Amino acid sequence: MPPKRIAHALAWMAAAAVFATPVTAAAPTIAAAVKARKANYKEIGGAFKTINDEVKTGSPDIATIRPLARDIANRAAGQMKWFPKGSGPESGEKTRAKATIWTDMAGFNRAHTGFVTAANNLNTAIASGNAGQIAQAQKVLGNSCKTCHDRYRESD
Ligand code: HEC
Repeated sequence: MPPKRIAHALAWMAAAAVFATPVTAAAPTIAAAVKARKANYKEIGGAFKTINDEVKTGSPDIATIRPLARDIANRAAGQMKWFPKGSGPESGEKTRAKATIWTDMAGFNRAHTGFVTAANNLNTAIASGNAGQIAQAQKVLGNSCKTCHDRYRESD
């Protein structure tokens, strides 16, 4: 090979080596996961509050609370995907998710299942149109939030 061709080949090899270097920084994915997680809970929190306000009136407006309760149930179903490994306090992100989530995944999963069941029950209650049943289901749903937060979310 003429020297010029060799230099060229070496340059290409060096470039290839750079591209072959494994990407260790998973930070952008983790940061996005934490951001999406908080955004989801924020929506859940807003929906839950509006339903609470409606329940307090004694005759909740079904057209208002039905889509909100559906939204909570839909988000609840996807909840386990919001906690990729490494997205806890060790991530350096601003998060209130406790490390316990990952060390006690079975318990966290139970809290998740309780939440999903409670959210589905609220939807069933809303379909019945019975204010008492709706109020009861909303209370149980609120307890499911609290059960998880008490154990797996850092207090402010
Ligand atoms: C299985 C556990 C679990 C359940 C159930 C749960 N949460 Fe949370 N929630 C969390 C965790 C963990 C965080 C902290 C997320 C973070 O900071 O990364 C959180 C954060 C939040 C936040 C703060 C979001 C923000 O802006 O940072 C709100 C509001 C919230 N939850 C409301 C609710 C409501 C309302 C319910 C029930 C209808 C609920 N959550 C059910 C675990 C749960």
